[in-house]
Parts: sequence; structure tokens; C-alpha cells
Amino acid sequence: MSVRILGIESSCDETAAAVVADGREILSSVVASQIDVHRKYGGVVPELASREHLRQIVPVVREALAQAGMELADVDAIGVTHGPGLVGALLVGITYGKTLAEALGKPLVPVNHLEGHVHAVFLEAHKAGRVAKLPAVCLIVSGGHTVLYEVKPEDSSVQDAGARLRYRKIGQTRDDAAGEAYDKVAKLLGLGYPGGPILDRLAAAANGASAPVKFGPTKMKGNSLDFSFSGLKTAVLYHLREHPEYNEEIRTREAAIERGERKFEELLPLCSAQTLGLLREFQNAVVRDLVERTMRAAEELGVESVLVSGGVAANSQLRARFEERGKAAGVDVFFPSRALSTDNAAMIAAAAYPRFCAGILADASLNADPSLVLA
Ligand code: KG4
Ligand code: ZN
Repeated sequence: MSVRILGIESSCDETAAAVVADGREILSSVVASQIDVHRKYGGVVPELASREHLRQIVPVVREALAQAGMELADVDAIGVTHGPGLVGALLVGITYGKTLAEALGKPLVPVNHLEGHVHAVFLEAHKAGRVAKLPAVCLIVSGGHTVLYEVKPEDSSVQDAGARLRYRKIGQTRDDAAGEAYDKVAKLLGLGYPGGPILDRLAAAANGASAPVKFGPTKMKGNSLDFSFSGLKTAVLYHLREHPEYNEEIRTREAAIERGERKFEELLPLCSAQTLGLLREFQNAVVRDLVERTMRAAEELGVESVLVSGGVAANSQLRARFEERGKAAGVDVFFPSRALSTDNAAMIAAAAYPRFCAGILADASLNADPSLVLA
């Protein structure tokens, strides 16, 4: 009999539930995004996030069970994100998870959201019949995190879905996360929220438009595997201030977004070649930085696999560049599908499995830990 874990995720602005068997087989995965709620504020508003989670959590869990063809009683354990994230948002998932566990008499497994992102990669690899050899270097890159880990099995003779993993942090952003930089630059340019998906597509449409400004590699004092993205965002801001010719098209796009016209097809005609060239150059700089530092870490540690996860892992140029560099360096690069890259609960149920196997359980005293670390 397989172990079927119900995963619950509510750390930021996605209410999600999923059922995963034996840590690898996704039986269902339901995500209710709150983007439409937060859009007009240009970012996640914590109070609104908690309220939305409260509205969504019951129907989302119900839907995940229905899609898996299961009843609550069929669940073997409940895995829930207890950090890092927004405290009020986390508490909704934790309280519901605790209540279910108590009422059903099932074990409750506390899961670190970041470990969930690592497991998203394993879920995808499993679907594709691939195996990510450990030790590996893992880049988690999202709206809240940009961090590099070395990932090893606790016991090198066990490398299955139930294996406990050990993490060592080898680099992290000193200021903004990469996704945050995307979101801020999109805001500066009147391209709405969130910024990543639209900038990704507009940069791809730049078709050789020349860069109106050049952004060189970011030099880091101290740990050369650390990242920094706030200087790049500021460089975009200064460039826009020095070039008032952008103002009119920015206002035009802001008005379009205000009317709800935020699709790629609607915004592309409102972008000059100069803007597209600027976006492309911004993306080149972000992607170069993420790929070069991660590949350097892989080389320094002599690993054969690189894992890339988190919302920004959905970026098409980042994927292409990693594939290219991986091939050249003889390193296998693994990404989740786009749906598993952004926040979801299948990754939480998968990360709960090795903890469940090791008997790492929580009781009714489980609390939210907004700044929980993985290493
Ligand atoms: O992992 P995620 O869903 O939530 C966090 O934990 O932050 O990541 C969301 C972030 C946002 O900043 C969004 O702009 C970015 O991921 N993102 C992208 C893309 N899709 C989402 N960034 C670049 N390219 C994309 N295609
Ligand atoms: Zn996340």
C-alpha cells in the first residue's frame, strides 16, 4: 500500500492542496491564486492574503481530494507548510492542517516551504523518468528567495523518495530576490503585477532590438556565490529618469493595465523597441548572474546535477541558458514544470514524505515560523 499525503500550502499568495503518493506520484494538485486580489496594490498585501486563504482553504482541500478520488479518511498523513512566509497566511494552513489531523487521528508533518521547492524538482524528474544524482547544487529563485544550497542525502546509500536530505547554504541574495527585481522593474515600466511572466515574454519579443543601456556583471565582495539585484533595479530607475522619452508610453501602459488590458498581445504594441531592448538587457543581466554563480558553485563542488526551482525558474531564457551551460559543463540541469515552479502543494506533500518516514511529526503546538531557514 502506498503512503498518500495531503499537502497544504498557504505561505504567501497561493492557497494550495495536493495529494502525493509515496513522495513522487502526484494524484492531484489544486492551486487558487490570489493574484487578482493583490494586483491593484502592486504586491502581496498580507492582511488580504490571510483573508483569501480563509475563504479558499476548505474548497481547495476538498477539490484536491475529489480529483484524487479520495475521502479525508483515506489520507495517511497531512503535510503543512509552517514557514518561511507571511505569518497570518501560514497560520491559516497550519490551523486547518492541525484541525484535520486532530479530527481524523492522522499524523501532521511540518514542512519547510523551501524544502518543498527542492522536492518540486524531484517530482518533475520522476515524471520524466530521470534521476537527479546527489550531491547537487540547488538554486531556489522566487519573489521572496534567491538562495543556493548544496543538497546531499543524509545517508549516501539511500537516494529514494524517502531519503532525508541535508542542506548547506552556499550563497544568497544580499538584498532583493530576483523575482522581486522583476516585479519592481515591471512596476517602473507600467507593466503591472506580477512582473516575471510579462517581462519574460516581452524580452523574448525584443528580436535584436539594441540595448539602450548596458548592465555589466554584478561584482560581489566576500562570498562570490552571493547575489545582489537591487543595484540593477536602481540602474533601470536611473536610466528611466535620464530618458524622459519613456514617460509617455509608461503612462499609456498604466492606463491600459487600469482598464484590465494586461495580456502580452495587448501590451506588446504599447512598447517601443527601446523599451523592449531595455527589458531584454535587464533579463540578460538577471539570467547571467543566476546562471554563472550557480554553475560556478556546481564546478567548485564538483557535482553532476543542478536543480533550479521557484517562480523565476519558469523563465524561458533562464531555462535555455541553464540547458546550454549545463551541456557544455557536463552537468545535468533539472527544472520543475512551470506549474510546479511556482508555489503549489504537491511539492509540500512530496517534502513531507521523508519526514513522515523518519517520524518527524508535529503536534497541536505547531506554530508559524515566518523566518524558518533550511540551512
Ligand atoms: O515561487 P513563487 O510563486 O512565489 C514566491 O515564493 O515568491 O514566485 C513568484 C515570483 C514573482 O516575483 C514572479 O514575478 C516571478 O516569480 N516569476 C517569473 C516568471 N514567472 C513568475 N520571473 C521571471 N520569469 C517568469 N516567467
Ligand atoms: Zn515559494
